[in-house]
Amino acid sequence: MIKHCYQILYKIFADGAYVNIALNNGLKSVSPNDKNIITRIVYGVTEKNIFLEYAIDKLVKKRPHVSDTVILKMGIYRIYFMNEPDYAVVNTMVELAKSLKRSPAFINAVLRKCRKIEMPSEEYEKKSLEYNVPIWAIKEIEKDFGQEITEQFFIHPKELLTHIRHNPKKISQNDFEQYLNFEFDRKTPYGYYVCHNTLTKLKEHTHLYTVQSLGSMAVCNAIGVAKGNKVLDVCAAPGGKSIYLKQLADISITSCDIHPHRLELINSYKKRMDENDIKVVKNDAVVFNPKWEGQFDAVLCDVPCSGLGVLNSRTDIFQHRTKDSIKELTDLQDKIIQTSSKYVKKGGCLVYSTCTILKQENEQIVNKFLANNTHFKPIDFDIKVKSLKLNNNFVQLMPYISDTEGFFIAKVKYETTVN
Ligand SMILES: C[S@@+](CC[C@H](N)C(=O)[O-])C[C@H]1O[C@@H](n2cnc3c(N)ncnc32)[C@H](O)[C@@H]1O
Repeated sequence: MIKHCYQILYKIFADGAYVNIALNNGLKSVSPNDKNIITRIVYGVTEKNIFLEYAIDKLVKKRPHVSDTVILKMGIYRIYFMNEPDYAVVNTMVELAKSLKRSPAFINAVLRKCRKIEMPSEEYEKKSLEYNVPIWAIKEIEKDFGQEITEQFFIHPKELLTHIRHNPKKISQNDFEQYLNFEFDRKTPYGYYVCHNTLTKLKEHTHLYTVQSLGSMAVCNAIGVAKGNKVLDVCAAPGGKSIYLKQLADISITSCDIHPHRLELINSYKKRMDENDIKVVKNDAVVFNPKWEGQFDAVLCDVPCSGLGVLNSRTDIFQHRTKDSIKELTDLQDKIIQTSSKYVKKGGCLVYSTCTILKQENEQIVNKFLANNTHFKPIDFDIKVKSLKLNNNFVQLMPYISDTEGFFIAKVKYETTVN
């Protein structure tokens, strides 16, 4: 079991694999009994990575070999967060080191002193360990929202339940609730929060429901699609929003993505949900496609983003995002909204959304777009989810008020008459 954990974590820390992918692949050959504990350790280590890095930094003078780093992270995590006797953890990790031909003496020496780590006294270093978020990200969010909101954002307890919705193509809402045996924790404006056990029972009937966050559903409702609308989803994979939009009204929708392997995700999702009437097209949202000019009633730009709004469900965000990578993202976001706006017909709308809370990826992108495209005006929209109201009718969903993670939504309209 412990070697399986090591192999999965090695893929994450040495090869840069995404946690969910490494875990899914790694669990294939594992007994059902071991699956839970491996999942807990892998998610736990990645979630507490900032603390574990800090600890290793304090415990050893020179950065250890990556294999030793992974062994130490597992050991320190189990000692600090899993209530296991220290000696038992040290013994298992020493045996693991031996089996991997690493130095057991080194692992033994470091783990034996790991309880004695001195905690930081500097305010941001303390917060960084408490929230498991790098200092730059905390400072960036504080700059955008102030200390109070930042604190509320980070200390809000992690949602342990999963948000699902029924598939109206296969079952009515009433029948779905009966089928669930009313075993949901709470109903939301668009779906249900259910626990792990309910989800396990449902897994036999995956055509009847889908997992979709309340925030993702709110984005679709912000568009306000109506029968007969022509809709373009420029960053659509894996297809969550496209398929829900198709189910909200009888529309024609074109769903695009730049990555062929991600288009396949839309295709398999379409199949599962029995929503075959969705056109899936490989397209780079940055490059103008003249065929689509002025053709769509609504264009959705659900752009690639830092994901800082969904930290709770994505434990590996900071393995893939640095402060510098945000600039690359904002350049891409700028280009996507600018190019995609050309596909909106007069009187039509564009919705820009992200799952981040950084203003440079949200408000600043849309405000810059509005300044350069005065024929577009920000408009109000109705979502049934509580949010922070920002200027220009933009909204920021926040975990501590919205019952979902940190999504940003802006809606702009191509005005037919410009003053
Ligand atoms: C936030 S995800 C979209 C999630 C999707 N809307 C949903 O609800 O399931 C962003 C997507 O943009 C895609 N993407 C990144 N760069 C792109 C580009 N230049 N053109 C089109 N799609 C792009 C990524 O492959 C990714 O699938």
